[in-house]
Amino acid sequence: MKFGRCASFAGTKFGSGESEAGKSSPPARLSRMKAIVIFQSFHKGNTKKIAEAFAGELGTKLVRPGEIKVNDLINYGLIGFGSGIYFGKHHQGILDLAEKILPSAGQKVFIFSTAGLPQLKLIWHRALRNILKKKGFKIVGEFSCAGHDEVGPLEMIGGINKGRPNENDIKKAKQFANSLYIHAPEVI
Ligand SMILES: Cc1cc2nc3c(=O)[nH]c(=O)nc-3n(C[C@H](O)[C@H](O)[C@H](O)COP(=O)(O)O)c2cc1C
Repeated sequence: MKFGRCASFAGTKFGSGESEAGKSSPPARLSRMKAIVIFQSFHKGNTKKIAEAFAGELGTKLVRPGEIKVNDLINYGLIGFGSGIYFGKHHQGILDLAEKILPSAGQKVFIFSTAGLPQLKLIWHRALRNILKKKGFKIVGEFSCAGHDEVGPLEMIGGINKGRPNENDIKKAKQFANSLYIHAPEVI
């Protein structure tokens, strides 16, 4: 957590919830505002690099789907879900977790990915986006960047997006993470 940002948002609606207990406490699931980044990355470790950039910038916990109890997720005010894109959607472990998570009244989430064709983010994110939307989550941002892709015949030509994510991608990921402060100042 960046102290500068913490300080600048101290005393916001939810951030001041504890000290104002008894006056107008926020709903139970929003009373302990924290962020968490959940990711899966098995092809080249591409998404891990982006997830680490988010977690570092936001000062959050970084876990894989099997490392968090689904019921514990109600304690987080902002949840990032991301993975590589495999056959047109996020990793099944991410989709399964999203299916199992308790429905929410506006809990904030963001979606991210790395992909061979990140320009098709709207399509690749659709399955996860639909699950989260149906459950009442508020999607505050989506991010995708190119990831080295050597799947199938691409391997013979050294793949596509060699060297990605690169430094510039990490920079953009950090900028995206910073843009989340606007949507979730009570968390970050
Ligand atoms: C089995 C498999 C299927 C893939 N399917 C897609 C796809 O449908 N669309 C796409 O843009 N990229 C696809 N890719 C490329 C990956 O999304 C990309 O390499 C990503 O950066 C991998 O992330 P990871 O290293 O974190 O696992 C696929 C890769 C693999 C291994």
